[in-house]
Amino acid sequence: MTRGLLGLVASGCGGVEKWFRTDLAEPAVQRGWQLAITFTPAVAPWFEAAGELDQLQALTDLPIRWEPRMPSEPKPYRTPDAFIFAPASANSVAKLALGIGDNQALTALNEAIGVEGCKVVVQPHANADKRRHPMWETHVTTLTGAGVVVVSDVPPRSLLDLLDT
Ligand SMILES: Cc1cc2nc3c(=O)[nH]c(=O)nc-3n(C[C@H](O)[C@H](O)[C@H](O)COP(=O)(O)O)c2cc1C
Repeated sequence: MTRGLLGLVASGCGGVEKWFRTDLAEPAVQRGWQLAITFTPAVAPWFEAAGELDQLQALTDLPIRWEPRMPSEPKPYRTPDAFIFAPASANSVAKLALGIGDNQALTALNEAIGVEGCKVVVQPHANADKRRHPMWETHVTTLTGAGVVVVSDVPPRSLLDLLDT
């Protein structure tokens, strides 16, 4: 009996391959979540190069995804009960706010926003240079206005607490 299906999504932010498993995926499993992990195509090779893919895959019986399925293939699993998108790059935050789903990670997140009972937590990792972009605040406001919980400056493990509130 699991707590539910948790979508964990990560994008191309420096160092993610060093903490994503230990600080987010493993604690989520310890709290009883079944994991549906999706990476952006940009970050998947980082996990592969770090030798993290096998260890992450061992945490879940669902396939780690970073490519879309073929039309002939069924969806590999149902829509998760909740999502944590951490880290979220400036690039992916902008695309998500605009509803762009040009990869599997963004497609899953876009489809989850606004679904009743499905909490979506997004933790942007964007430095001051990226946040200075004139559209940055608009993107964040768009997401929060749609019910997305956007948080900064908390340890990854604490993101899991937000699923309980
Ligand atoms: C080593 C490295 C670290 C990066 N760190 C960040 C970061 O912390 N935040 C960010 O917004 N972009 C960062 N980038 C840039 C993104 O990886 C880049 O914009 C990429 O296109 C994001 O694609 P994605 O959002 O599909 O994962 C980094 C790039 C590299 C090569």
